[in-house]
Amino acid sequence: MAKTLTVQENLELLGRYRYTEIQFMELMGSWAHTMLDPEIKIGFGRQMFQDSVHADLIGKRIPELKGRSKRYHSIQPSGEFARLLEKIWKTDDELLRMVALYGVLKPALVAVYLRHRGRLELPADEPTAYILRHIADEEQDHIAWAERVIERLLTGSSRQDEISTWQDGLKRELQAAGGIWGEGKKPGEYTFKKTHLYSKLPTRDSRWRISENPGEFSEKNWSFDTTEGKLHLLHDLLNSEFITVERMGRILSDFPEIPWQMKMDMARQAWDEARHAEIVQRRLEELGGSVGMFPTSCFGWEQDVNRPDPLERLALSNMTFESESCKHLRDWIAKAKSTGDSRSQQLVEFLLADEVNHVLYGIHWIDELTKNDPERRKRVLAYPEQVLASQHPVGVYFKETVNANKP
Ligand SMILES: [Fe+2]
Ligand SMILES: [Fe+2]
Repeated sequence: MAKTLTVQENLELLGRYRYTEIQFMELMGSWAHTMLDPEIKIGFGRQMFQDSVHADLIGKRIPELKGRSKRYHSIQPSGEFARLLEKIWKTDDELLRMVALYGVLKPALVAVYLRHRGRLELPADEPTAYILRHIADEEQDHIAWAERVIERLLTGSSRQDEISTWQDGLKRELQAAGGIWGEGKKPGEYTFKKTHLYSKLPTRDSRWRISENPGEFSEKNWSFDTTEGKLHLLHDLLNSEFITVERMGRILSDFPEIPWQMKMDMARQAWDEARHAEIVQRRLEELGGSVGMFPTSCFGWEQDVNRPDPLERLALSNMTFESESCKHLRDWIAKAKSTGDSRSQQLVEFLLADEVNHVLYGIHWIDELTKNDPERRKRVLAYPEQVLASQHPVGVYFKETVNANKP
């Protein structure tokens, strides 16, 4: 039987796991808006959050093991490992990305968790055992989910050989890099930023019709008291839910330096929005609708995800659009209630509960991060107004309601 792990050995490994979980979260965040498959976007929204929780649980155990110095908090297994992550991050192909993350990286992470669990000093190190069991279980669920998605993407394609070659090659490179334990290697210091080119629109599958002229966009004028109105509004909301998963992912990947709790909030929001997308699509279909039945608009995307300050993104989307959306949802709830549509009422009440938190994330982080920087606060809070000043009808519509609510 292998020797049990000491406190010090534990620390060295936990820091590597935390680094790896955060990297996975950022990979998904960075990719979400360029993935075509909606099930993948939803899965990423859910798993960004779960990986942030994994990193958080590990991050709580590290100081308990006297790892209070910053060095233990995140340890890059090796420079080669980071370069391999960079190579995977740069891959454009959806299927190759999925195979790399779920067919190579995550299985390697589960393997080291299981190996670690086999070498725990028990009951002394029961707290680590508890954490690793929880995390490894969830990671295995992620892999099982992805296996089904990959199988579906491969159906009828002739890419099986190409995929196997890619997967085998990465496994060899991962092993040569020392794996997640960084065996035979010194901790690395190679950093790469997951930066993006200017983004005009998020990727949508062929069912969607994104209006080229958002000026003609009037979906928000429908009312939730007829089935036709519900279809229009739910369809429009579905696209917004996807947008929000994608823009939360972009904050996580674009700004690795933001406070940890802010990342947890952004990841949590990504999960909420992923669930919203599922809920809204199901209700749309129950009411006889389908994805792509109406044109839709991605107004605000371009003005949000290309901003270099994450707080400007929160000011525009969380504090302005989502705050506006709360008012709409309250109206929908009242109309669903008065027309006896208890199913819609029940679901929209859950959506609203989450949305209120999203607005608060915006308010809290802008307030917290600009409390000693009045210039930044001014610029951040002025940003929505600047966007809405454009003569875009959706913008004007929001601007009127925003102004109407000012004291
Ligand atoms: Fe939402
Ligand atoms: Fe939201």
